[in-house]
Amino acid sequence: MVLSPTSKKAVNMTNTAVVGLQWGDEGKGRIVDDLSADYDWGVRYNGGPNAGHTVYVGNIKVVLHTVPSGIFRHGVKCVIGNGMVADPAGLYREICKINSLGDYANSGTLSVSEEANIIMPWHQVLDGIEGGKLDTTRRGIGPCYADKTARKGVRFGHLFDRKGDVSRDVFAGRVRELYDEKREVIKTMLRLCPTKDETAYQLQPIDGIIDEIVAAAEQLKDCITVTDTGELLYDAEQRGESMLFEGAQGAMLDIDHGTYPFVTSSLTTTAGIACGVGFVPRIDRVIGVVKAYTTRVGGGPFPTEEENERGGYLRQKGGEYGSTTGRPRRCGWLDLVQLRKAVRLNGPTELALTKLDVLGGISGKIKVCTGYELDGETIDTFPSRLKDLERCKPVYGEEFDLWVADISGARNFRDLPKSAQSYVLFVEEELGVPITYVSVGPKAEQKILMHRP
Ligand code: IMP
Repeated sequence: MVLSPTSKKAVNMTNTAVVGLQWGDEGKGRIVDDLSADYDWGVRYNGGPNAGHTVYVGNIKVVLHTVPSGIFRHGVKCVIGNGMVADPAGLYREICKINSLGDYANSGTLSVSEEANIIMPWHQVLDGIEGGKLDTTRRGIGPCYADKTARKGVRFGHLFDRKGDVSRDVFAGRVRELYDEKREVIKTMLRLCPTKDETAYQLQPIDGIIDEIVAAAEQLKDCITVTDTGELLYDAEQRGESMLFEGAQGAMLDIDHGTYPFVTSSLTTTAGIACGVGFVPRIDRVIGVVKAYTTRVGGGPFPTEEENERGGYLRQKGGEYGSTTGRPRRCGWLDLVQLRKAVRLNGPTELALTKLDVLGGISGKIKVCTGYELDGETIDTFPSRLKDLERCKPVYGEEFDLWVADISGARNFRDLPKSAQSYVLFVEEELGVPITYVSVGPKAEQKILMHRP
């Protein structure tokens, strides 16, 4: 932060990324919420309504799915980047919710990339049929990204023309090119999954689809600008404006590097930013967000999972229920093997350790996984092969004495119990990245800013 010579106002010239280093739900929303007022732009680059970013507007809790969290800060312009997927009706509902709290989201403050893909009704139907195997959020995310890659996607640029008007003819033409094939694919999938209740997974007639999405677009027209957001952001960077890139999900859900196939379908790491915003931004700070223990929602391997009363304690005390689907999250110990991979993938310049308070009062010792045992060998790298990962047993090389249940009043590192201090320093040392922020409770002020010399 420097002072502008003309206005004497603090001017932020850094670009910052906030990324999740586990399986999502690390508390990125809170970090973004804390920071966003200092930036000119708030930018989302991956995922879509599978994400749930919790922010507070005054005392009101709001869960955002598609719109960047900076939307609640006046003066912050927000972008839904080309790497994202969104459904127009859902986006409109989200904007209405945002605007019911004040005049926040309108054309000029919220831009959507004309290259972002639209989640079509057939994506939602297919995710309903197939998503059970992977325990997805059933929002149509996977089928939408699959079609994008297969070059069978529908983009916001099909729905809006270059002047920002709804282009019904172009959109309807694109839907007609794709509809018959999608209907056949759905029929086939239903044949292959005979236990499904077919009536729940029927694709509506084509005209209804076109009418509904065009109607949603007409409503959206006054709230968003559909444009070349890569160009918009590139120009802004040239003018010295600052950007906050808000990651969704976490490193272990990345389509390439996560616990495949139990992953989401987008690029969730720092590397995904350039792909998802349409230019290669300078990124000065990368804040890797790490929950003090591990959670995952949905299926897939989770070596340090505690399927017992300690896992239940973390779930209850940490309120570990999905913010998008309400599903209970699986809970377990912190896993340094997994986190080392996430550090490699994201290049964090600093770490935010969240929910340290939740570990307080748990029964027995607090464990940290430092390696895995695989076929009689101890390894410290995270296997990519699902079959190998499934056989890994955690090695808990470090244990910490339990600390008191309530540390939510701590505001300085020295206020923490000794054992909690050792925990923080151990994680920092092992990952080789400074921890600059520790959260000790859900309220914005319940945090410790770690000041470094
Ligand atoms: P999809 O993204 O809906 O395709 O779901 C794929 C996997 O990613 C499932 O296990 C989901 O539970 C998980 N997932 C997707 N989005 C999030 C998120 O924001 N937080 C945590 N898990 C997520």
